[in-house]
Amino acid sequence: MRKILVTGGLGYIGSHTVVELLEQNFEVVIVDDLSNSKQWILDRIKKITNKEPKWYNVDLKNSENLNLVFEENKIDGIIHFAAYKAVGESQQKPVEYYENNIIGLLNLLKCTQKYDVKSFIFSSSCTVYGQADELPITENAPLKKPESVYGKTKQFGEEIISDVASISNFNTILLRYFNPIGAHPSALIGELPLGIPNNLIPFVTQTAAGIRKELSIFGNDYPTLDGTAIRDYIYVVDLAKAHIKGLTRLLNNENSSNIEIYNLGTGKGSSVKEVVDAFENANNLKVNYKYAPRREGDITSAYADASLAKEQLNWEAKTSLEECLRTAWNWQKTL
Ligand code: UFG
Repeated sequence: MRKILVTGGLGYIGSHTVVELLEQNFEVVIVDDLSNSKQWILDRIKKITNKEPKWYNVDLKNSENLNLVFEENKIDGIIHFAAYKAVGESQQKPVEYYENNIIGLLNLLKCTQKYDVKSFIFSSSCTVYGQADELPITENAPLKKPESVYGKTKQFGEEIISDVASISNFNTILLRYFNPIGAHPSALIGELPLGIPNNLIPFVTQTAAGIRKELSIFGNDYPTLDGTAIRDYIYVVDLAKAHIKGLTRLLNNENSSNIEIYNLGTGKGSSVKEVVDAFENANNLKVNYKYAPRREGDITSAYADASLAKEQLNWEAKTSLEECLRTAWNWQKTL
């Protein structure tokens, strides 16, 4: 059985990926310091899979503790999620963001060298493209200067990993996610936003639940069909499955180069208004909303050309927007 280290394995995308790994009979070691996750997610993972991943409450900035994890476990591959991810907060706390996202990555990369781990999946973001000149966005689109410190940590992360791969026998896949949404069909795990949600779907579900009075749709004067901004919303379970495909490719030496990059999206853009309508239809309820000014730093439109992932990883998004939004609401109801 291959042993996979998942950093941030109790977080939103991490926990869904751990479930898929366990279901595919990988052995899983989680490193998660609970800075943006809850310990009870571990029990939920056990409940879904009937399997028990090992968990270390370790902060990646603590190199000594991280080394202990590698001493105690012979790791075959790594999926690296652990990072701070709030765009707005990153502008207020640049030092903390660089320290956490970059030092954590460097410590992990040192361990890959010391303990000879050759397969590494990195959790990146479509934010590295900024407002792309051409849509849909392919992996060859030029990277733009990110609007946020968070985005810069993803871009720097990609570069650091590429530099390591260029001088060593180290294989990596950089996965650029579009907008992950939804929750596991069991409604046992899902997104747990801290405080007032920044992202659209948790704000919508909390508004439907009466926790928030109304949703502000940021901008209805974009040059789009209905004036609201367009994104590519990808189901978190579909996204999780792409990690297993990428990891297996690396472990089986099927990669064509030691650095591969894939967009993970549906290939279809949806406007904010379309998302709200789809949520209402899928769940047969109403969401209070108003139009508000554009949010600073937002782009008009981003959606993926995900054909490379289909060709090379044999992966594609399968779940409809409405189905995603049903799972998001089922999860919200449990909170
Ligand atoms: N939106 C609203 N009201 C809200 C929240 C969001 O109208 O209360 C709109 C936004 O303006 C945007 C869309 O919904 O047009 C999606 O916003 P999100 O905050 O959910 O997602 P973003 O596209 O801004 O950000 C996401 C991830 C980031 C990542 C980025 C890459 O959250 O981690 O995609 O573009 F960096």
